[in-house]
Amino acid sequence: MSFFIFLYFSFLLFLFHVASSGQPLCHDSERSALLRFKESLSINKSASSDDPSAYSKTARWNLEEDGDCCLWDGVRCNEETGYVVELDLSSSCLYGFINSTSTLFNLVHLQWLSLAYNNFNYSIIPSGIMNLSSLLHLNLSDSHFSGQIPPEMLQLSNLESLDLSGYYQLQLQHPGLESLVEKLTNLKVLDLHYVNISSSLPQVLTNLSSLEFLSLRYCNLEGNIPSSIHNFNNLIHLDLSSNKFQGQIPSEILELSQLEYLDLSWNFNSSIGNLLQLRQPGGLRSVVEKLTNLKWLRLSFVNISSPLPDSLGNLSSLTYLSLYRCNLQDS
Ligand SMILES: *[C@@H]1O[C@H](CO)[C@@H](O)[C@H](O)[C@H]1NC(C)=O
Ligand SMILES: *[C@@H]1O[C@H](CO)[C@@H](O)[C@H](O)[C@H]1NC(C)=O
Ligand SMILES: *[C@@H]1O[C@H](CO)[C@@H](O)[C@H](O)[C@H]1NC(C)=O
Ligand SMILES: *[C@@H]1O[C@H](CO)[C@@H](O)[C@H](O)[C@H]1NC(C)=O
Ligand SMILES: *[C@@H]1O[C@H](CO)[C@@H](O)[C@H](O)[C@H]1NC(C)=O
Ligand SMILES: *[C@@H]1O[C@H](CO)[C@@H](O)[C@H](O)[C@H]1NC(C)=O
Ligand SMILES: *[C@@H]1O[C@H](CO)[C@@H](O)[C@H](O)[C@H]1NC(C)=O
Ligand SMILES: *[C@@H]1O[C@H](CO)[C@@H](O)[C@H](O)[C@H]1NC(C)=O
Ligand SMILES: *[C@@H]1O[C@H](CO)[C@@H](O)[C@H](O)[C@H]1NC(C)=O
Ligand SMILES: *[C@@H]1O[C@H](CO)[C@@H](O)[C@H](O)[C@H]1NC(C)=O
Repeated sequence: MSFFIFLYFSFLLFLFHVASSGQPLCHDSERSALLRFKESLSINKSASSDDPSAYSKTARWNLEEDGDCCLWDGVRCNEETGYVVELDLSSSCLYGFINSTSTLFNLVHLQWLSLAYNNFNYSIIPSGIMNLSSLLHLNLSDSHFSGQIPPEMLQLSNLESLDLSGYYQLQLQHPGLESLVEKLTNLKVLDLHYVNISSSLPQVLTNLSSLEFLSLRYCNLEGNIPSSIHNFNNLIHLDLSSNKFQGQIPSEILELSQLEYLDLSWNFNSSIGNLLQLRQPGGLRSVVEKLTNLKWLRLSFVNISSPLPDSLGNLSSLTYLSLYRCNLQDS
């Protein structure tokens, strides 16, 4: 009998605990920072026109969930501290300027921030971003920022993934790619496609040996692909397409045995022709025999000048192959 009374009280205690943890987690200062950030921007469906499923995540903030900002759409808090640690406002129809006085930069516990697929009306990325020093993931893809990437962004040294891809509006020149990779040494994912870098590949890029995903498509890059590329031994996705890389593709690329996605296409100059050559011993045959995990292979405009190897059919995971204008020979 006393055992059941004990159980009964335990159950009451449990209910009390559940009820008390139902009070808002959210800190007042962070709730007001979120609301002021929301109010500094307008909601405009065409700001997220790239994503047909876009909707305004901020529209119902403050109207629901008893003001507990931790329950708002796109917001996630640390369950113990109540601080906002994730803010996913991708495809949220946000439109307007943003600068360093934005209350977004008061949310200093953020570890994950996505503002992808909105329209910040060609604002410069505000230097206030450096206040978010706990960030591990930052995604500003297609969010209509412009100008130079500010040096302050390179202070976010904990970043593991950085996506600044967009349509030729951002520049990474002063500082350049070299400074970025010297400072952000924890990167696993780096997507800079369409960022105008206009340099050659710095040697120290290949010091980022934890990198799993690298896209430098359409970055206005030139020069050779360095042989130190074999340092990227965790790389799964490599896209160096649509630049002005030239010379031999180094045979060290064959050591990237985890690669599933390889795109070296369209390094091409209409007055000179194909800029990249794949003619080291073995050529395409070595690629096919060494990089057996490939799912996607695009070498269009790489000068291969050899026949198609029989072993191509052994790449059983391949779902995409393009060898357009590769100067393949008859076997
Ligand atoms: C909505 O955003 C587009 C750009 O995506 C802009 O041209 C237009 O002026 C904006 N409309 C309003 C009412 O702000
Ligand atoms: C967007 O930028 C244009 C051009 O600078 C400016 O006229 C317009 O007021 C800006 N719109 C917003 C909502 O900031
Ligand atoms: C930053 O933006 C706010 C609101 O959009 C504006 O009032 C303020 O003047 C801007 N500050 C600077 C330094 O441009
Ligand atoms: C960013 O941090 C600096 C220094 O800690 C502080 O003075 C500034 O107010 C912060 N900015 C914002 C927008 O929180
Ligand atoms: C950035 O966000 C876009 C839109 O949500 C997504 O497609 C892309 O994969 C994200 N990038 C990274 C590196 O996660
Ligand atoms: C890229 O940057 C270079 C050097 O600053 C400049 O000459 C070129 O016009 C830029 N390209 C584009 C498409 O903006
Ligand atoms: C990059 O790696 C090389 C060789 O391991 C090393 O000598 C160099 O100091 C590294 N550079 C940076 C900036 O870490
Ligand atoms: C193509 O090569 C020619 C000759 O070297 C050069 O003048 C031209 O700028 C190059 N075009 C591009 C788009 O790089
Ligand atoms: C491809 O390489 C071969 C052998 O070096 C060369 O003769 C040919 O001109 C090159 N073709 C193109 C389109 O670069
Ligand atoms: C394809 O793989 C099989 C099994 O690993 C091997 O016996 C065969 O020689 C390979 N074919 C070619 C053309 O390399």
